[in-house]
Amino acid sequence: MANYFPRYTNILPLKIAVCLGTLALGVVVAFTYYGSPKAQVVGYMPDQPIPYDHELHVTQLGLDCRHCHSFVEKSGHANVPTANTCANCHHETKGGIKSDSPRLAPLMEAIDSGKPIQWVRVHKSPDYVYFNHSAHLNRGISCVECHGQVDEMRVVFHAEPLSMGQCLDCHRAPEDALRPLEEVFNLKYNARDYISKNETAKNILEDYVAEKSLDVDLDDEHGAQLAMGTMLKDRWNVRPKESCFTCHR
Ligand code: HEC
Ligand code: HEC
Ligand code: HEC
Ligand code: HEC
Ligand code: HEC
Repeated sequence: MANYFPRYTNILPLKIAVCLGTLALGVVVAFTYYGSPKAQVVGYMPDQPIPYDHELHVTQLGLDCRHCHSFVEKSGHANVPTANTCANCHHETKGGIKSDSPRLAPLMEAIDSGKPIQWVRVHKSPDYVYFNHSAHLNRGISCVECHGQVDEMRVVFHAEPLSMGQCLDCHRAPEDALRPLEEVFNLKYNARDYISKNETAKNILEDYVAEKSLDVDLDDEHGAQLAMGTMLKDRWNVRPKESCFTCHR
């Protein structure tokens, strides 16, 4: 009689058992992890080599995030600016603003020597996590969702957990965060103020709410966000993925 089951099939049950075991372990670890977001990173605020102040440069001087973080919407990785970006305003051969201030001495040294400034990294995902900035910014997710009110920070700190739980919460309900693309870099945006200043947007949103019979109050900050987010998700067909391989590759 022909041997329908070659010898190697004998270990197939073992292989299946090992696979299922590994899978179960993964799920248990994932759930344990999800249940306990890593809270200890929140508040991390390392000393920086130069007392660079976001509140001053962004809120008082009105600089856009992209003036310095120039790759953030074009690339997966955000960049911290080189000394040349600062030199345009501060170096004596250019803008010369406060160029003799002791607080700027390390900057002048970096510019003259060509050595990079050793900024201390604040946000860092583990190596096994795949993250992409432009994929979020070009879909209407603002910096503020993941980094907090950087425009008000005199010293940058880790404001959000950026845990797996936080990523998944938004991937499941992006309507709580989606905003018009031109508002992504405006950290003071809220949907209610936006429609109160933009008649066309208000009409479009009101029509959408009526068409879908949404039960929301557009005069309420949260209600306006929910309506706006639901409409953008629908119109742009935003579908953030939740499978493990989206973020673990
Ligand atoms: C004039 C240049 C400049 C502008 C404008 C600017 N930044 Fe920065 N940013 C820096 C520099 C320099 C650092 C590194 C030093 C530090 O952490 O303060 C930094 C650091 C950061 C970090 C922390 C990076 C890390 O190590 O994890 C975040 C987040 C950030 N900026 C967000 C923003 C956002 C959001 C805006 C716009 C609202 C903005 N920045 C505008 C220069 C700038
Ligand atoms: C568009 C111009 C501009 C750019 C670009 C810029 N700054 Fe400034 N910066 C200013 C102005 C204006 C002030 C306020 C000066 C004052 O208080 O009179 C200032 C103040 C400062 C101060 C405080 C100086 C003191 O003694 O009070 C520091 C430190 C500083 N900047 C660092 C940086 C660094 C680091 C960068 C690059 C990441 C940078 N700046 C980029 C315009 C700029
Ligand atoms: C959806 C969440 C999310 C959004 C939105 C987001 N970031 Fe980030 N950002 C992260 C994560 C996660 C990291 C750590 C990434 C890593 O380690 O590879 C990070 C890291 C950074 C860094 C440090 C990069 C480095 O190499 O030192 C900067 C600067 C930064 N972000 C700026 C911004 C700016 C500016 C915006 C808005 C224009 C923004 N981010 C929007 C999640 C986000
Ligand atoms: C506030 C909302 C929000 C948060 C927080 C968030 N995401 Fe997303 N993410 C989105 C949206 C929206 C998309 C785009 C979905 C689409 O294009 O349909 C996306 C897409 C992605 C993609 C697909 C990118 C690609 O190349 O196709 C990855 C990977 C991702 N997110 C990883 C993360 C990780 C890791 C975190 C946590 C550190 C995170 N996200 C946090 C909303 C969020
Ligand atoms: C939207 C992005 C995203 C998706 C989808 C995702 N993860 Fe994660 N995961 C993360 C991030 C971000 C971290 C690291 C969090 C941190 O640094 O605190 C992480 C961490 C982990 C860890 C490490 C826990 C630890 O304590 O070190 C495990 C295990 C894990 N994920 C398993 C999974 C499994 C299994 C799935 C599918 C069910 C999954 N992840 C789906 C973003 C994601």
